[in-house]
Amino acid sequence: MRAALFHAYGPADALTVQDVPDPVLTRPTDVHIAVHAAAINPIDWKIRAGSQRGALRLQLPYVGGLDVAGEVLQVGSDVSRFAVGDAVMGCPAWQRWGSYAEQCVVDEGLLTHKPAELTFEQAAALPLAGLTAWQCLLPRLAQQTGQRVLVQAGSGGVGHLAVQIAKHHGAWVATTCSERNHELVTSLGADQAIDYRSQRWWEELSDLDVVLDALGGEERTRALRAVKRGGRVASIVSGMPANTARYGPTLGVLATGLGIAGFWLQGRLRGVDASTVVKRTRPDQLAELAELVVQGAISVVIDRSFPLDEIAQAHAYGETGRIRGKVVIRCR
Ligand SMILES: NC(=O)c1ccc[n+]([C@@H]2O[C@H](COP(=O)([O-])OP(=O)(O)OC[C@H]3O[C@@H](n4cnc5c(N)ncnc54)[C@H](OP(=O)(O)O)[C@@H]3O)[C@@H](O)[C@H]2O)c1
Repeated sequence: MRAALFHAYGPADALTVQDVPDPVLTRPTDVHIAVHAAAINPIDWKIRAGSQRGALRLQLPYVGGLDVAGEVLQVGSDVSRFAVGDAVMGCPAWQRWGSYAEQCVVDEGLLTHKPAELTFEQAAALPLAGLTAWQCLLPRLAQQTGQRVLVQAGSGGVGHLAVQIAKHHGAWVATTCSERNHELVTSLGADQAIDYRSQRWWEELSDLDVVLDALGGEERTRALRAVKRGGRVASIVSGMPANTARYGPTLGVLATGLGIAGFWLQGRLRGVDASTVVKRTRPDQLAELAELVVQGAISVVIDRSFPLDEIAQAHAYGETGRIRGKVVIRCR
């Protein structure tokens, strides 16, 4: 099969597309998938650049891709939820080769069925970003409607889904992005769009119930001050790339751990739930999200789609930090 891999950590052009052996089932719960589409996420280029290497011990060469949508080719002896020919979607584990390929093997516990109403590209764009948004906002938003929520970077992969998930749960939602994206986030339901280049959101917003922090650093500290007692700041940024660049891979992990603990403690002192959220793959939640897309409650915004052969361009485009919604890869 064709796959996009890197043999050494480096910039986007470290990725090459080449022929490699087809993957095989190695565990009874494995599902062998013909990949129709993958999506790119910032963690993909952080991994490729080597900034996660203190925490994620990878064997090179490595095939990335942590979102997948495709059709089942083969199942292991213990697989009970899927059969050959099923359309599936989910998140390959980082420990194995991922979805930047014509085929991949994923544990059945990381997959759900793709509803027929979703295209493979939509289905690939949803899992990692959607589950991250979901796990930051719920069950907090499920408790009551009318909560005041700030979603940072509401035009990005996680943010555009978070805005819609929060609205679906009856929240009042403010979001930050540059002005060119205000029309987009408003169309997704945001009640207030704030241009982070010309406005200081922390001077306009207070008494928030929940903040989804997608930026880290000072923004994360400001979020703690803007949330009311009993509220929640869910940060999805650990600071690992900056810490690795500054201290190297091993001490970078330690510095990141200390930063996460310090954030949590600052939250405790203020009576705020300050959590660093790392997405977990929950097929039940993914199925709920996919159903919301089917019902039209959530739109998956696809900024651009690239063929597998242009994976390096797709990474370089994503790394600009300017994408609207998701970037997907067509794998066949
Ligand atoms: N912990 C986890 O499990 C987890 C999961 C997913 C993602 N993440 C992390 O979360 C972060 C966001 O991920 P993503 O996939 O949403 O990224 P993304 O799609 O690349 O985000 C791009 C968006 O961010 C906006 N943006 C850039 N700088 C901004 C700023 N200073 N203030 C407000 N908006 C800004 C851009 O809007 P403009 O073009 O208008 O500037 C753009 O639309 C990344 O660091 C990623 O690694 C963590």
